[in-house]
Amino acid sequence: MTELTFTPDRQKKLENLLSRYEIKASALLPVLRMAQEQWGFLSPEGMDYVAGLLDLCPRHVREVASFYVLLKKQDMGDYCLQVCGNLTCCMMGSDSLLKIIEEELGIKKPMELSSDKRFSLMPVQCLGSCDTAPVVQINEDYFEKLNPEKFREIIRKLKDGVQVQPGRQT
Ligand code: FES
Repeated sequence: MTELTFTPDRQKKLENLLSRYEIKASALLPVLRMAQEQWGFLSPEGMDYVAGLLDLCPRHVREVASFYVLLKKQDMGDYCLQVCGNLTCCMMGSDSLLKIIEEELGIKKPMELSSDKRFSLMPVQCLGSCDTAPVVQINEDYFEKLNPEKFREIIRKLKDGVQVQPGRQT
């Protein structure tokens, strides 16, 4: 197996980052984000690599990573669909959005990848945008005031490689 290493750009970014902290360990979260950016998710090998960079115990790095939902510990494909399952979004129809995901992508349960490995489903709790429920976060972007038709359209566009516009949909 090839050894994991940050790209030259990220190595530079790392040096810059470490120069801002008194102790290397303080840079753990941003360095984990960098690792996720580079490899898409944090594999055990990726976390060990980060531990080595920061002179930390690998177990400590895994414990910290396990605490943060936004740090992905498995391959979530190109598009991670984070469907809010909290009260307001449920009342506003988030269940119907889960149905669309199943119909369009064949994903039936949380943390599953689509068969083409491009999409995944991650249930989340309140995304803090209850006034625009129901909300789905796709990677870093919020798609708000969704309805089943709009959501189906968004998924189909993503499948076809067409750019979609985040924000309010209706
Ligand atoms: S309940 Fe869904 S954003 Fe708050």
